[in-house]
Amino acid sequence: MALKITVIGTGYLGATHAAAMAEMGFEVLGLDIVPEKIEMLSRGRVPMYEPGLEELLHRHVAGIEGSTGRLRFTTSWEEVGDFGDVHFVCVNTPQKHGEYGCDMSYVDAAFGALAPHLRKPSLVVGKSTVPVGSAERLSRLLAERAPAGVDVELAWNPEFLREGFAVQDTLHPDRIVAGVESERAEKVLREVYEVPIGEGSPFVVTDFPTAELVKTAANSFLATKISFINAMAEVCEAAGGDVAKLAEAIGHDDRIGAKFLRAGIGFGGGCLPKDIRAFMARAGELGADQALTFLREIDSINMRRRGQMVGMAREALGGDTFLGKRVAVLGATFKPDSDDVRDSPALNVAGQIHLQGGQVTVYDPKGMDNARRVFPTLGYADSALEAARGADVVLHLTEWREFREVDPKELGEVVNARVILDGRNALDADLWRAAGWTFRAMGRPRA
Ligand code: UDX
Repeated sequence: MALKITVIGTGYLGATHAAAMAEMGFEVLGLDIVPEKIEMLSRGRVPMYEPGLEELLHRHVAGIEGSTGRLRFTTSWEEVGDFGDVHFVCVNTPQKHGEYGCDMSYVDAAFGALAPHLRKPSLVVGKSTVPVGSAERLSRLLAERAPAGVDVELAWNPEFLREGFAVQDTLHPDRIVAGVESERAEKVLREVYEVPIGEGSPFVVTDFPTAELVKTAANSFLATKISFINAMAEVCEAAGGDVAKLAEAIGHDDRIGAKFLRAGIGFGGGCLPKDIRAFMARAGELGADQALTFLREIDSINMRRRGQMVGMAREALGGDTFLGKRVAVLGATFKPDSDDVRDSPALNVAGQIHLQGGQVTVYDPKGMDNARRVFPTLGYADSALEAARGADVVLHLTEWREFREVDPKELGEVVNARVILDGRNALDADLWRAAGWTFRAMGRPRA
């Protein structure tokens, strides 16, 4: 009989995983402790912007006309315990307030609530990004509290999806990592990922600590790559070089690779910044802090970029002050194709300029509601054109396709001064310059 799947936590990770499992043909029950989320998802609506996810939900959520009915949502732990053979835990692990460590309270609460309802043989699969050592501790918690005792097992199966590509990454993962302690757990995970999700994806079997570390190591490597190219951008700025050409040239070396070498205002979001900090904190607890001191530098290069963008904008406005100046900001989310503004470099730059007296107007294709909630005192406009009206400088801070398609001539008609700074190295400099703009990009020559 086909395995029945539950997914605990319905954020980016959980909602996408639940829909993908239904797409694979499994009966799926998703749980969240927030009733409003469950109510939305049960109507096939997604509480955030993620391309393709709503369509996938519509194909499977029970009660929607024409759906397979394989996907349901609940707030009941008891129902989850009775239903599932495999329980995926997908709750978030944010940064602790005021310190580097990882806040495990959602994971601990989820395991604590689930365990007493595990009355039949089942596999609990952790997907959240956690400090190494957590799986071992959570496995003991299950052994102590699950009524089915040894028939309940734990596996750790980190998730590598990117926001904006969550559906694609979940349905076609680069690799599947299975941290297991028994052949039985491995067999169940292989069955879940068999076809077509796992088709062509390497299946790497590890122990618990390695599986946990794979995720933090991967994100640390990505963060390092971005900060490396941003450090090169700083040197290019000082030496008159062009970081985009440099990235292109080194990227041709297969051992380096061309991806994640886009210099600009740096990385943000709910994962990379907090994951490298939590990794440093955990290494410290383990007495291995020296191994990761370089991550502190990666973090500080990254944070420095935001201030450098602010400095570039101030310089473009004549030098001393933002007072009395209008600044148009294109982009608020931490990256395109997402409405997520968590630790967003774009919003941070906009906020810094606002706090220094600039009159900032922000436009973002999908992030306006979240940006307004986080930073209500900034000005907001409904289009790039409206944001730019009367601007003394335009800052391009999140590389949405919509901004690459803006007509520089049209925008040039509404601004006060034709000056644009590209904080993402994504606009066509020649096009803007041909339309009479002063165009500057981070890490690139002036003209
Ligand atoms: C990341 C990892 O990529 C993913 O595997 C993991 O599961 C979660 O964390 P995500 O946070 O969705 O995914 O975004 P990602 O695409 O990695 O981008 C992170 C940040 O880096 C963004 O702010 C982006 O603008 C920035 N970035 C990315 C650069 O500044 N330059 C680049 O070349 C690439």
